[in-house]
Amino acid sequence: MKNNKCLLVLHGPNLNMLGKREPEIYGTLTLETLNALICRKAEELGISVDCRQSNHEGVLIDLIQEAESKYNGIIFNPGALTHYSIALRDAIAGIAVPTIEVHLSNIYGREDFRHLSVIAPVARGQICGLGHQAYLLALEAFANESTQDQAAWVLEKKINLSREKTRAVRGAIDVAMNDEQEILQATTELLREIILKNNIRKEDAVAVIFSVTADLNAAFPARAARQMGWNDVPLFDVVEIDVPGALPRCIRVLLLFNTNKGLHEMAHVYLKGAIALRKDLQTPDISQNKKG
Ligand code: DQA
Repeated sequence: MKNNKCLLVLHGPNLNMLGKREPEIYGTLTLETLNALICRKAEELGISVDCRQSNHEGVLIDLIQEAESKYNGIIFNPGALTHYSIALRDAIAGIAVPTIEVHLSNIYGREDFRHLSVIAPVARGQICGLGHQAYLLALEAFANESTQDQAAWVLEKKINLSREKTRAVRGAIDVAMNDEQEILQATTELLREIILKNNIRKEDAVAVIFSVTADLNAAFPARAARQMGWNDVPLFDVVEIDVPGALPRCIRVLLLFNTNKGLHEMAHVYLKGAIALRKDLQTPDISQNKKG
């Protein structure tokens, strides 16, 4: 059977020590024997494989990045890097090559720090706890998937990699007085900080919604955005309901924009007295004590 698929089998740190290293956990097979078993199985399935091992995160990242032009899939045992390498996770997330994460041992039955895999959420799947069979089962998974199904996965991943999403950032600032200049200056400061922290270009902006507490009526904050040249972006001002005990003279903003960034990468901005509204976003030494 010829599959026309070519896979990269990647072993991470310390897996060159297989056979000698904690054999009660990882078994007695050496890496050489393991690779020989992988190659034999791949041949039976009509798949070509390249087996590589490195103890260095950067080398593994280089191999993953290069995989896009060379391989249809990756079988990856990241070793201990599984549990903390965001760089490896990002490398896998950034390519349209399906990756099956494998482990010789059952990482969920071991120490707590091994229960987390930062790789798993971006992997196509994960197989662990079955010794060297994990690699052979991963080979079968690749062999059994039709070329059409695999092409559909790659296409979907490519679309996802390039697709921008509309995200929103929040911000707030308070002013000392219900004064036109103060409102416009504070709004400008707030918008500038939001734009800077989130690297937003004018053309990425979708809409900006401003709200002010009922004690501020000297100016529409949207005017500050107009003065900054946001002419094509829809802007909207609203007055908030008057909640007892809320931070007085406060301007809030919700800015919607298109980006490739994830939800957790949004930098929300709270300035001056409004820092008190989201103390969780601040470092303890700069937070103030006002209630909102
Ligand atoms: C391993 C599990 C990891 O926790 C450990 O650090 C390894 C090997 C496995 O194959 O079981 O190096 O990935």
